[in-house]
Amino acid sequence: MTVYDEQWWEERYASGEAHWSGRPNDVLVAETADLPPGTALDVGCGTGGDALWLAEQGWRVTAVDLSRTALARAAAAAEERGVAERTRWQYADVTTWAPPRHAFDLVTTAFLHVPGGVRDAVIARLAAGVAPGGTLLVAQHDPSDLHTVRHGQDPDLFATGEQLAAALPAGEFEVLVAEARPRMGRAHEGEHLHMADAVLRARRR
Ligand SMILES: C[S@@+](CC[C@H](N)C(=O)[O-])C[C@H]1O[C@@H](n2cnc3c(N)ncnc32)[C@H](O)[C@@H]1O
Repeated sequence: MTVYDEQWWEERYASGEAHWSGRPNDVLVAETADLPPGTALDVGCGTGGDALWLAEQGWRVTAVDLSRTALARAAAAAEERGVAERTRWQYADVTTWAPPRHAFDLVTTAFLHVPGGVRDAVIARLAAGVAPGGTLLVAQHDPSDLHTVRHGQDPDLFATGEQLAAALPAGEFEVLVAEARPRMGRAHEGEHLHMADAVLRARRR
């Protein structure tokens, strides 16, 4: 069984296999359009596509990842893009690390890929970092992708929006979005692919 730990991710970054566009995820752009910039936490930030974009929109961003290679690339990009003073890059493994309680106006995580056995605990921990009135946003590959573009991948890494919502602490959040959202992606060869993101957006009461 694959263990998606620091070594696994570092090998992906070292080999070039973990290579993201540098652009923000569609879900983040859509779901933060109506939010005033404040403090944000991006968990599993990778090379910083989402965190850098948030900083460019005026957010003050703490971004965490368990790959030091990814964090170093993200910090360099923050310098290049002129947002270093609004970003903080922090090494942490979110299966054990917890954000400060009720500290962030936005806690976001995109395509973190944590296995089912720890997913609920991770979401509960991230939810605890959301300030009153603040937003938790989770995006990951929807299980429907297993029948289309992600044949043969580990089903344990997939969850629906409803399954993500079920991990929230009872009564503390209003669920605004829990759905599969269709998206057009691109294969390595460049052809367009129909896929879907599982999206959870919830607001702390
Ligand atoms: C698929 S990448 C997504 C990167 C970025 N969020 C994006 O959407 O482009 C997943 C990232 O999560 C990080 N990651 C995986 N498990 C983690 C954990 N337990 N704690 C912190 N980061 C983790 C990996 O190192 C990797 O950078």
